[in-house]
Amino acid sequence: MKINLNDIYNQCIKYSESIKNPILKELIKVIYKDYKEKLINKPATTESHHCFKGGLLYHIYSVTRNAVTICNLYPDLEVDMDLVIFGSLLHDIGKCNDFKDFTNDDDLVNGNSSALLGHSYEGAHIVENYLSKYDIDEQFKNQIVHMIGSHMNEYSEWGALVLPKMLEVVIINFADNIDAHMEPAHKDISTAKSGELYKIGNAPRPYYKSLNPYYNLSKSL
Ligand SMILES: [Fe+2]
Ligand SMILES: [Fe+2]
Repeated sequence: MKINLNDIYNQCIKYSESIKNPILKELIKVIYKDYKEKLINKPATTESHHCFKGGLLYHIYSVTRNAVTICNLYPDLEVDMDLVIFGSLLHDIGKCNDFKDFTNDDDLVNGNSSALLGHSYEGAHIVENYLSKYDIDEQFKNQIVHMIGSHMNEYSEWGALVLPKMLEVVIINFADNIDAHMEPAHKDISTAKSGELYKIGNAPRPYYKSLNPYYNLSKSL
C-alpha cells in the first residue's frame, strides 16, 4: 500500500478541526506544526508495528480513525469527542523524541529523555508544556494530560504513568491496540499457507491460517 504522508498529515489536521474547544483545537495545530518533520519521518516502533518512515504519523491517524469509529458504533455514548480526538492525535507524540528518524538500523536514542522515561511520560510532558501557555482550568488540564499519560493502559516497560480513569482514554487504548495488532498482520497472513502458523508483531502466540476451502471467496462481504 502506497501512503502519501502529506495527505495523512492533512487528514489528521482535518480531524482536529472538528474539536469544539478552541484551545485544544489550536494546540493540535501548533504541536503538529512544530513536530511535523518528526511525525512524517519516524517509525511508530522499531520492530512491532508501523516500522517504516512516517509509520508514527500513519499509526496516529489510524488510531484516531479507529477511535472515532468506535464512538460512532455507540451513538448514545456520551463521551467527550474533543478529548477522544485530541488524545488520539497526540497519544504517541512522545515518540517524536524516542527514535531516530527512520533508517534500516534505527534504534532508541541512548540517553534521550524518552528512551529513559518512556513515551507516555515524554508525551504528557510535551502536552503539559504547551498547555502551560494557556489560561485553562487546572483540573481540566490534568484530564487532558491524563489522556496521554495513561493511554497504554498497563504498567510495563513501555507502559502508562497511571491507569485510565476516563472512558475517553479507554476508547483510545482499544483503538491503539487494534491498530498495533492488525497493521503487522496483513503482510504475515498473506504470505502464510492454508493451515500454517504465522507470527505477527508482539502477539503473544502464533496464529493458524484458515483451512476453509471458501476462504478466498469469503474475504469481502
Ligand atoms: Fe503509545
Ligand atoms: Fe500508539
